[in-house]
Amino acid sequence: MDRLVKKKLPRHIAIIMDGNGRWAKKRSIERIIGHRKGIESAREVVELCREIGIKYLTLYAFSIENWRRPKKEIEALMNLLERYLKNEIDGLLKNNIRLMVIGNIQDLPLPVSEILQEVVEKTQTCDDMILNLALSYGGRDEIIQAIHRIIKAVKENNLKEEDITESSFSSYLFTRGIPDPDLLIRTSGEMRLSNFLLWQMAYTEIYVTEILWPDFKREDMIRALIDYQNRERRFGLTSEQLIKTG
Ligand code: IPE
Ligand code: IPE
Ligand code: MG
Repeated sequence: MDRLVKKKLPRHIAIIMDGNGRWAKKRSIERIIGHRKGIESAREVVELCREIGIKYLTLYAFSIENWRRPKKEIEALMNLLERYLKNEIDGLLKNNIRLMVIGNIQDLPLPVSEILQEVVEKTQTCDDMILNLALSYGGRDEIIQAIHRIIKAVKENNLKEEDITESSFSSYLFTRGIPDPDLLIRTSGEMRLSNFLLWQMAYTEIYVTEILWPDFKREDMIRALIDYQNRERRFGLTSEQLIKTG
């Protein structure tokens, strides 16, 4: 942990928490037990991020495509989510963590969307860290929804066509007000984005580990952060230019 340089920490970390099913399969137990175990990893990672001063953490918990999974698994996941939110509320308040959600909340079962709304409201003045959950989320869907809202705003004379810029476009996304992720972590070795934050990750550093999400612990997170700190983020410039400007 003392190898972490405070000044070089990412402001926003996004995580694709993947590998719960394979973790369970390896043990010949039900997938849902892998998901349950995965919640412990999420809790540990949230705690660590809060401790070291990460401002934004976005966790990919359920994608739009995940609705195509077997009904039984979806139901179990939704129950887990509901229970997680109920259990977490006091801890979030105590640790001054604000919960936000991106995705299509209206598609979630009512008890889940109700408790989500409650936690979002109760934590809205917390400001040490923002925990952002991606639920029923798809990056392409988010972009299309933004386009619809922009067209509406232009039609209603609330937005001029020439004012559609990269930055104004961003403000029509679910993530408005949240800076783009500096670091994306994906567990379980898969080398793909799976429709996650497509617009926002144009310049995000990507870190993939073979570790399955239920096995991903504090030390693995620290390892990812150390790796990130050793990267050179060039944003199109040359190394020499970066050295000159510091
Ligand atoms: C990630 O684990 C959790 C969700 C997608 C909800 P998976 O369930 O995708 O686990 P694998 O990829 O089958 O191992
Ligand atoms: C991505 O994982 C979604 C979440 C982690 C919630 P998946 O396991 O669903 O991704 P694909 O479909 O294998 O790419
Ligand atoms: Mg998976």
